[in-house]
Amino acid sequence: MSIAVALDGPAGAGKSTIARRAAAALDFIYVDTGALYRAIGLAATRGGIDTDSADEIKTLLSSVTVDLAFNDEGEQVVLLSGEDVSGLIRTPEASMMASKVSAIPVVRAFLLDLQRNMAKSRNVIMDGRDIGTVVLPDAQVKIFLTASPEVRAGRRYKELCEKGMDVKYEDILQDVITRDYNDSHRETAPLRPADDSILVDTSELDFEQSVEKIISVIKEKI
Ligand code: DC
Repeated sequence: MSIAVALDGPAGAGKSTIARRAAAALDFIYVDTGALYRAIGLAATRGGIDTDSADEIKTLLSSVTVDLAFNDEGEQVVLLSGEDVSGLIRTPEASMMASKVSAIPVVRAFLLDLQRNMAKSRNVIMDGRDIGTVVLPDAQVKIFLTASPEVRAGRRYKELCEKGMDVKYEDILQDVITRDYNDSHRETAPLRPADDSILVDTSELDFEQSVEKIISVIKEKI
């Protein structure tokens, strides 16, 4: 039987980089479900869709396909109606649009089977917001990865400064707090730890320590 690790948590906790490394060490595949919401967001932007219109969203969903594939390096590739959009979905605009479409119930329903199928026959670490609670409620390992808002904002601040952007720490912290509130208070699949999840707080851990911690939690459970 294949093993599923559900990895949920707020934005900026380091889920994707930590999970990618842990998956490589364990020889699991890594599935980033946020990319699916981003692909739908991109399709909505391209189609000039009003995300407040249920009809427009439904029409959009009936006209596109979203798929995940893996390239020769084992990296996830996201296909929107067959087109590789993996790079295009990483812009700030795409993040904003992904956040909007991810709050729409029909969008979540549309992506559910695809996510479940990814975990059917392979060992996976699946990263998202509702993996342990909704997508894979029977996952053998459920981890809720978090860090304090201050630490997450600090990491983001450093990243943006390194890219030469002129940003204020206080603004970023406020963004993090607002986003946490929105994610955990939305009606559909709000961000919350599954009852049987293990909480891992990376506030006091560096990257390598975080990877080690995740691997040891997984190994203990399987
Ligand atoms: O993890 P990310 O930033 O790539 O996610 C993009 C958006 O999709 C983000 O607003 C949260 C949302 N999302 C979600 O609602 N459920 C998931 N399983 C994954 C992401």
